[in-house]
Amino acid sequence: MTIKHIHEHGVFPQVRMRRLRQQAWCRELVAEHRLLSSDLIWPVFIQEGKNTETPVASMPGVSRITLDLLVKKAKHAHGLGIKAIALFPLIDEKLKSPLGDEALFPDNLVCRAIREIKNAVPEIGVIGDVALDPYTSHGQDGIVEHGTIVNDATVEKLCEQAVVQAKAGCDIVAPSDMMDGRIGAIRKALDHDNHTDTLILAYSAKYASHMYGPFRDAVDSKKLLGSADKSSYQMNPANGDEAMREIGLDIAEGADLVMVKPGISYLDIVYRAASNFPVPVLAYQVSGEYAMIKAAGVNGWIDGDAVMMEQLLSFKRAGARAIFTYAAVEIAEKISD
Ligand code: PBG
Repeated sequence: MTIKHIHEHGVFPQVRMRRLRQQAWCRELVAEHRLLSSDLIWPVFIQEGKNTETPVASMPGVSRITLDLLVKKAKHAHGLGIKAIALFPLIDEKLKSPLGDEALFPDNLVCRAIREIKNAVPEIGVIGDVALDPYTSHGQDGIVEHGTIVNDATVEKLCEQAVVQAKAGCDIVAPSDMMDGRIGAIRKALDHDNHTDTLILAYSAKYASHMYGPFRDAVDSKKLLGSADKSSYQMNPANGDEAMREIGLDIAEGADLVMVKPGISYLDIVYRAASNFPVPVLAYQVSGEYAMIKAAGVNGWIDGDAVMMEQLLSFKRAGARAIFTYAAVEIAEKISD
């Protein structure tokens, strides 16, 4: 829309923009974007045990759940029109180690969860996170040597982790670790093991954000991480062009879908990514973003439900093809009402 365009098509009083906004039916008729259940991907925290839900204190409305409940809730989510769910495990501290080898164990919590969901609700897509942080005793996503997160040795592990998840039946593997070269290496490893149809969702533009705190509570990696951070591999929030480079490289290496994370404060990146690249761009409303809305809502400072809807719609307006949100089920329930 240019100044020239406005002059060609007239101005006030012939043009009254408010005509289109007078009545609800018309506002809905001309809406440019709509939030659908099929836009939502539900990230779920899982834990060992039976018939247990453990609320995550910093994420009102979110609980870690055992696999029997996971299967039931996956069925419910599928019934509401949610197309995919993403799994994040709480790993017993005794199973965590410096190299995070539990990640490669074919019977670990995530692999069992994948098998159970694909067995009970094969119609829903299952996304497995590829990164070592739930499994390492230091909480970093990669292997640490002399205080440095080493790239290439980590990528080898990630390849094994991705293959183990694909073998369990995972539809999409999602490397969220930000190591260099991991997408190409994982594609090669998957293909070599005959998983040529397993999709890769690359967390291409993942920032070293302070909004991941509640997630780290949920998977219990905060205290392990201590004062260390992830700035030597996750991106500097100051950078936008660099995100375009990261996305371009991941696509060249074989990413089927790319992710921008966090979401709301990075909608400029979502918009640029969706405008510049011909692959589906996804975005993640991260734990801190979710928690801020919930906390203000619980206090009555904002209408939490309305703000949640509005922010999720903003993702669509920015160009996100699908959105990871912890509110997926409650929002899908509202949409289907
Ligand atoms: C790390 C990972 C993180 C999240 C998902 N996987 C963040 C991190 O600890 O760096 C955060 C998601 C959220 O905050 O909702 N592999």
